[in-house]
Amino acid sequence: MPVNWSISFDERISPEGLPHAATVDEYKRFHELSVKDYRDFWASVALDLDWFRIWDRVLDDSKPPFYKWFAGGELNASYLCLDRHVKTPRRNKVAIIWEGEPMEDGKPKEVRKFTYYDLYKDVNRMAYLLKNKYNIKKGDVIGLYLPMIPELPMFMLAAARLGATFCVVFSGFSSDAIAERMNDAEAKLIVTTDGAWRAGKMLDLKSIVDTALEKTKTVRSVLVIERTHNKVNMVRGRDEFLSGMMKSAPSNAYVEPEPVKSESPLYVLYTSGTTGKPKGQVHDVGGYMTLLHATMKWVFDIKDSDVYWCMADIGWVTGHSYIVFGPLMEGATEIMYEGSPVFPEQDRWCSIIERYGVSIFYTSPTAIRGWIKGGEQWVKMHDTSTVRLMNSVGEPINPEAFKWLFKLVGRERVPFGSTWWMTETGGIMISHVPGLMMIPMKPGTNGMPIPGIDADVIDEHGNPQKANERGFLVLKKPWPGMPLTIFKDPKRFEEVYYSKFPGIFYAGDYAVKDPDGYFWVLGRADEVIKVAGHRLGTYELESALIRHKAVAESAVVGVPDEIKGEVPVAFVILRQGYAPSEELKNEIKDEVRKQVGPIASLKDVFFASKLPKTRSAKIMRRVVKAVAMGNPPGDTTTLEDEASIEEIKSAYAQLSGDVRNGRG
Ligand code: WTA
Repeated sequence: MPVNWSISFDERISPEGLPHAATVDEYKRFHELSVKDYRDFWASVALDLDWFRIWDRVLDDSKPPFYKWFAGGELNASYLCLDRHVKTPRRNKVAIIWEGEPMEDGKPKEVRKFTYYDLYKDVNRMAYLLKNKYNIKKGDVIGLYLPMIPELPMFMLAAARLGATFCVVFSGFSSDAIAERMNDAEAKLIVTTDGAWRAGKMLDLKSIVDTALEKTKTVRSVLVIERTHNKVNMVRGRDEFLSGMMKSAPSNAYVEPEPVKSESPLYVLYTSGTTGKPKGQVHDVGGYMTLLHATMKWVFDIKDSDVYWCMADIGWVTGHSYIVFGPLMEGATEIMYEGSPVFPEQDRWCSIIERYGVSIFYTSPTAIRGWIKGGEQWVKMHDTSTVRLMNSVGEPINPEAFKWLFKLVGRERVPFGSTWWMTETGGIMISHVPGLMMIPMKPGTNGMPIPGIDADVIDEHGNPQKANERGFLVLKKPWPGMPLTIFKDPKRFEEVYYSKFPGIFYAGDYAVKDPDGYFWVLGRADEVIKVAGHRLGTYELESALIRHKAVAESAVVGVPDEIKGEVPVAFVILRQGYAPSEELKNEIKDEVRKQVGPIASLKDVFFASKLPKTRSAKIMRRVVKAVAMGNPPGDTTTLEDEASIEEIKSAYAQLSGDVRNGRG
């Protein structure tokens, strides 16, 4: 008997809008069935989307791990986010309320509101420009180096409309990082801005792009959006202002949304991994949009009456999925905020909640820890009682941070979860699902895998780990939203994600399951560090370090930080002729910020005479980390250490000696 998976979301919510309570066993039974028949299950979800052509096969698994979801199906992400709503009364609903950072007389100086019809018209004009003035076609890549302004989602949707692929570079990255990504992605055009506001400072993005363009090979044009109207250098024949270009796009421009194959690339987003350069994660259209639809319903319980606010930056995956494609596909009204949540004062974020009556709030542990430090009086100044559901993302949430927000904004009653996922997964994988059935919350947990997702915690031999024992987090079945590949590097895709445990996806995180089956993700098991929830590879920081003339060799590790979760510290060996000094430390720190961007701030630099390495020349990171934290090295070894306990101890003694005796 085929299972009937047609889930009526609204039926599961009680009339008062309260979440549907479920026992852990009820949820587990439902989840088990969804995973057993995961193809049928996901197909039933995908049927909610508007397809130009329905798929031939739910899952083409003929070449694992390169899966194609909804193979043969055709759709368009821009159509799903715009055209679909414009045909209904949602046409006049506010889609985006954008608030700029600067304040005047205690009020935001600029607020822009866009209905779905406004967005539809603007995106069509932008698509017209891309197509007719820049000759962007299906398969071409455009780069977007933009801050949190409404034109960023618009250009993402315009590219998607043409079947082109976009690549957003977070506006906190440097010119080197832009050049590296644009070259790898072979972008033809970069869209940027004349400036942006962040914490009261104006960022000059255009000059960063200018420097990047000295090193790019494929970028021919730069389109500059006027945000701050400060003077920027415009190169003739290459750079144009958006306002000028828009004059050539008719006000009623209409560009047919290109029907694209379900498995065609929607975007490439670069993210740091264990080794090597950042990897371009390529996401598809059909699977990705299906996962976002499901999670917007189950995890966020999104309704027409909601005001939704995801605080992330669109430069990271959270913004791609849960500011742009997820909420707009659902026809939500959402807040988009340009600047720092604590500018000009600690209460900016709760004043935004109050001003617009935010009902669904998606935030991060780093933000919450910062607010705790600021003091609860700031929150109490505002009415945040409109909030009915909250989630957190980016790093493990400590129970104190959970309880603080749960009490002050959640009034100790709203569903509040910590959604685990990553750039690679496209959308949320482990989370409470209050829109479907709500199991009891526990402060700090991620909850359970969402329906259709087969996650587990396993030991290094691939066996399920016992309850409360630390193991590796894996996804055992393909899922819609999974990456198609690493851009231009399928071999690496297989190696990084599917070789440690053949046939299953290795996430790179440590996790435990508690005796009730709740998942608790503990942090990265590899050389990735999460600074304020942002993902940085130690490799990128180390390669920036050795480009400084004084540095011969380096090792970077993350150490715990009260607010940011983790921060990087570096150990360096100096070249002949250089001596340790405070000035040199600062110079080295500046160099890394310059090369990678302001998000790469080293907390400290230690000078060492030797770095601890295994026989296969791998840096013993556990040893380096123990020294950095002033902890003993521990008296066990693991497979990852590749070294005996004696070797570890002597390496530890050497490095901590260096740090103690003033080399450090
Ligand atoms: C971490 C962000 C614990 C994890 C969406 C993962 C989390 C990495 C959580 C991916 C959470 C994200 N609890 N850890 N709720 N959410 N992580 O690619 O280590 O920037 O592997 O994607 O963030 O980071 P990424």
